[in-house]
Amino acid sequence: MAASFPYHRLKGRSVLITGGLGFIGSSLAHRCVRLGAEVTLLDACLEPYGWNPFNIREIERDVRFIRGDVRDRDLVTPLVGQADIVFHMAAQVGREISMSDPRLDAEINCTGTLNVLEAARKSGQPPRVVFAGSRGQAGEPESMPVDETHPDRPTDIYGINKLAGEKYLLLYHHVYALPVVSLRLNNVYGPRCQMHAGFYGILNWFMANAMQEKPITVYGDGSQTRDYVYIDDVVDAFVRAAVSEQTDGEVFYVGSGVETVFIEMVREVVRAVGKGEIVHIPFPGSREKIDIRRFVVSTAKLEAATGWKAEHDLRIGIEKTAEYYKKYLWRYLNREVSGKG
Ligand SMILES: NC(=O)c1ccc[n+]([C@@H]2O[C@H](COP(=O)([O-])OP(=O)(O)OC[C@H]3O[C@@H](n4cnc5c(N)ncnc54)[C@H](O)[C@@H]3O)[C@@H](O)[C@H]2O)c1
Repeated sequence: MAASFPYHRLKGRSVLITGGLGFIGSSLAHRCVRLGAEVTLLDACLEPYGWNPFNIREIERDVRFIRGDVRDRDLVTPLVGQADIVFHMAAQVGREISMSDPRLDAEINCTGTLNVLEAARKSGQPPRVVFAGSRGQAGEPESMPVDETHPDRPTDIYGINKLAGEKYLLLYHHVYALPVVSLRLNNVYGPRCQMHAGFYGILNWFMANAMQEKPITVYGDGSQTRDYVYIDDVVDAFVRAAVSEQTDGEVFYVGSGVETVFIEMVREVVRAVGKGEIVHIPFPGSREKIDIRRFVVSTAKLEAATGWKAEHDLRIGIEKTAEYYKKYLWRYLNREVSGKG
């Protein structure tokens, strides 16, 4: 991280993080607290998502936590109105859940985002809204690496609604001059990600399985490719995007820029944990239809605008992740216990 970057711009700023007990939101909260921001976290603690009180145990006295839902307009409006920066992370994050319960996905990912934007529009001094978008907005790549000029053809409801959320953001920028930026995230992994379910955060899920000596189940031959990006790099991208002038009204991909074969990622996890049995099974149901074969992004646009660059290669990132969960896995398998200290 370049020391010359003006991180001090976050000092004293009022920051609202929706989904703030989750993986990315809580990791960002740690960084914002360290940079001297006044941090409020909003999280509805919905199942089966990644909220975990343990995620903020080190900063719980430095942040304000509000348990509440982004679908609740009356709650969201004053919170957004008081903020200088809103990191909008709260989301229905499961691709398969979005297919089985598309209305839920639309209510959280579209209406929830509209609530944040409407509150920002109505506020006397509109905050900058930083949106967590997804690589899923692009769909199956027609050329690689995928960049911000690539067409958007999402293959699931989640991708469609994330795209809608981003389009709302850009419309509010265009029509109301609302300061906004959208970061389309690739596969994020690392400490503080949930470890209780495999429907997202697959690298972490495999690590949980390896640590508990449960089989690691790979659909098909594992030849699909992904762009895995370490959490600290993602947090840095959010901070930079929030305080840089060149990001206003823009969309950026955030990834490592490295195309990794899925099964290679799994082998790295097994290596870092020191054990793990890999089992190949056919894709279940309609899963193959929404699965994307290959994916890697170019982050040249974000680098040019903010000086950001992913600093962790996959091996180092997986080793750091394994180190964390060798100590704290149990805190992620039982959130009731983890909440008590
Ligand atoms: N982790 C990834 O690989 C990845 C990739 C692309 C995009 N994203 C996006 O990043 C954001 C954060 O994801 P994450 O990985 O930290 O997931 P996470 O599940 O760890 O965190 C999401 C949090 O949002 C909360 N939440 C869900 N619905 C809510 C609602 N209606 N009101 C208030 N809170 C609500 C959940 O309780 C949870 O704590 C999401 O917007 C997600 O779509 C993540």
